[in-house]
Amino acid sequence: MPNAWFETVAEAQRRAKRRLPASVYAALLAGSERGTTYEDNMAAFAEAGFAPHVAGLPAKRDQATTVLGESISLPVIISPTGVQAVHPDGEVAVARAAAARGTAMGLSSFASKPIEEVVAANPQTFFQMYWMGDKDSMLGQMARARAAGAKGLIVTLDWSFSHGRDWGSPHIPERLDLKAMARFAPEGITHPRWLLAFARSRRLPNLTAPNLTPVGEKGPTFFGAYGQWMQTPPPSWEDVAWLREQWGGRFLLKGVCRVDDAKRAVDVGVDALSVSNHGGNNLDTTPATIRVLPAIAEAVGGQIEVLLDGGVRRGSDVVKALALGARAVLIGRAYLWGLAAGGQAGVENVLDILRGGIDSALLGLGRSSIHELTPEDVVLPQGFTRPLGLPGPSGTR
Ligand SMILES: Cc1cc2nc3c(=O)[nH]c(=O)nc-3n(C[C@H](O)[C@H](O)[C@H](O)COP(=O)(O)O)c2cc1C
Repeated sequence: MPNAWFETVAEAQRRAKRRLPASVYAALLAGSERGTTYEDNMAAFAEAGFAPHVAGLPAKRDQATTVLGESISLPVIISPTGVQAVHPDGEVAVARAAAARGTAMGLSSFASKPIEEVVAANPQTFFQMYWMGDKDSMLGQMARARAAGAKGLIVTLDWSFSHGRDWGSPHIPERLDLKAMARFAPEGITHPRWLLAFARSRRLPNLTAPNLTPVGEKGPTFFGAYGQWMQTPPPSWEDVAWLREQWGGRFLLKGVCRVDDAKRAVDVGVDALSVSNHGGNNLDTTPATIRVLPAIAEAVGGQIEVLLDGGVRRGSDVVKALALGARAVLIGRAYLWGLAAGGQAGVENVLDILRGGIDSALLGLGRSSIHELTPEDVVLPQGFTRPLGLPGPSGTR
């Protein structure tokens, strides 16, 4: 029996690539157009460095913090992803892993599992929605999430329907009926562990979005929902304020990468924002999130919680983000690779890798707590940052 444990997220990704059918792997890798932003999200973390100490280091290091009022044991939470067909337990396995490691779960409105099951697995669940459909259907999604006990709402706004990828997009069927399974069959045969996991669960991968309709009603197919989203006119800032008011509870705006937008978000009353470019899946050539974070944290970090997502694969990435002004980070592909590699245990493994890496970086930097981190803890090459949306004659600098 090979050792199920893996030591880095890169190894989890290699195992995910081996285990998943090529089309499922490609759907998770995603990225848009040339993949410049997808790559820069990770490359920028590698460009930022540390200057460690050797003695007088703290014997104990503290990672506990809060996000949207929820206590978490490390500054990392689960970013919402529309994960279909990766693992039979899907988002419930991810929620269990996050609960076991003391952190919160973001659940996508395009997720494959009902929110009630996810909240039962992890009471620290935030529900994520897009601006899609009419106001009644958005109120319906919020009502269901509230009734299920969601601890906060994440509204994601950075999506501009940019679909093409230079390395090609996978074929994803409308639903997994026998015809589609026959088309998938060669991929399943060459990836027997993936197929076996679904065979054991006696379920086909779920390609519907159950959280978009009231409890008990059949959810739309993934593509049906996507089509409806594409046809919805994009929201104004007044619409965002409306969502914020209707929800009433803790509210996080995901997808900000400019200072002017961050200020508008504060004006409409958000409690938190995530500096994000959707993991490089939105407008390609948008700079890495870690490059745009410092200016946003400086502008609004004193008023709301500033989080970051995009490119986080190591504990040291988390420490760099915190040193540059983030309160915590959200992870996307890192836990998807863990889920594909080992289900719930694989996601726990990823969270353990990040916790261990954060601890090592704190030790080396001589910090006894994540709350002591400052920009002086990281070394940035000249021209590293990209402050976007600052006022002044040069406009977007
Ligand atoms: C396969 C995939 C599906 C995603 N689906 C959603 C989604 O439904 N809602 C959302 O807000 N963000 C979604 N995202 C974006 C993630 O929440 C997050 O912003 C991104 O993955 C962070 O980058 P990282 O993967 O490098 O950590 C998705 C990302 C991926 C890779």
